[in-house]
Amino acid sequence: MKKISLTGLKPTGSLTLGNYIGAIKQMVEMQDNYINYLFVADMHAITVPINREELHNNIKNFLALYLACGIDPKKNIIYLQSDIEYIPCISWLLECNTYYGELSRMIQFKEKSKKNANFSVGLLTYPVLMATDILVVDADYVPVGIDQKQHVELTRNIASRFNKKYGETFKIPEPLITEVGTKIMDLVDPSKKMSKTEENNKGVICLLDDLKLVRKKIMSATTDSDMKVVYDQEKKPGISNLINIYASLTNKNISEVEEMFKNSNYAQFKSAVADVVCSFLEKIQLRYNELINSDEIDKILREGALVVRKMASDKFDTMKLKIGLYR
Ligand code: TYM
Repeated sequence: MKKISLTGLKPTGSLTLGNYIGAIKQMVEMQDNYINYLFVADMHAITVPINREELHNNIKNFLALYLACGIDPKKNIIYLQSDIEYIPCISWLLECNTYYGELSRMIQFKEKSKKNANFSVGLLTYPVLMATDILVVDADYVPVGIDQKQHVELTRNIASRFNKKYGETFKIPEPLITEVGTKIMDLVDPSKKMSKTEENNKGVICLLDDLKLVRKKIMSATTDSDMKVVYDQEKKPGISNLINIYASLTNKNISEVEEMFKNSNYAQFKSAVADVVCSFLEKIQLRYNELINSDEIDKILREGALVVRKMASDKFDTMKLKIGLYR
């Protein structure tokens, strides 16, 4: 039997190379051998303030980019989270089996709540909604970047606790984190992750960025004063990040990349990274432009919603029965 894999991306900001390498690429590679669920986590996007127009446009952009990146709608179940009305209902049932202490210890919650003292309760309960996404489809694997690992671990705890209390209900999922590119860093400040909501986007490569700009960003990426293309995340975070990007897009491992560039200086290496990234983005952007104004996306979402709504509705009924919520 095929194993089930699921991942989602939150439609805030513009999709980055980090999002592609951390999550989408894995889903593309898995699509022949797994039952893949891929969705737009629009309800997660409203845990922080977001403009209506921006949210609406992002939803469509993200979906078109999934397809442009090689996600095949015939091999994946693609849907919009807010189309599945049972998801918040299930999330509530899980919230009542999750401790405040667990949620307040989540790294992402701690970081984001620091930025705005008036944060919403949704920011705190965010990981339970994420657990719901995962548990509804009985996912075996959740391909994510390393920043989401803690949330998948929490999902495992919530599911095990529910199973213990009410009887076997959920499959226990595993995070799937690749060896290369689990965390693509900002090009200007390689101590922080490349983020789609970063205000200073000089260090961020967005999938829809102008290619000339992409080359410029890579050529001016922060590096160290040594001149060797060698992987050392602590001492050479900038170069290590570029090695990661190159390795991931060419499907090579780190030592192969080091070997290839052992006689190159940083400018030559950066130029090679820029070539690989630009030729990858060029293909994506061409396909994106064909898709963005077609009605293909709506059709795909309608079909995806039908499948997942039924699964979520069944899960909700099972949970209610187990908890005692029935007439
Ligand atoms: P989000 O939208 O922040 O990120 C989407 C995916 O991209 C990965 N990622 C990265 N990987 C490598 N390097 C980076 N710089 C980088 N930045 C982001 C993230 O790890 C993630 O895999 N909570 C999730 C969305 C979500 C979800 C889910 C994911 C909602 N429900 C269920 C998996 C399963 C989020 O905000 O991801």
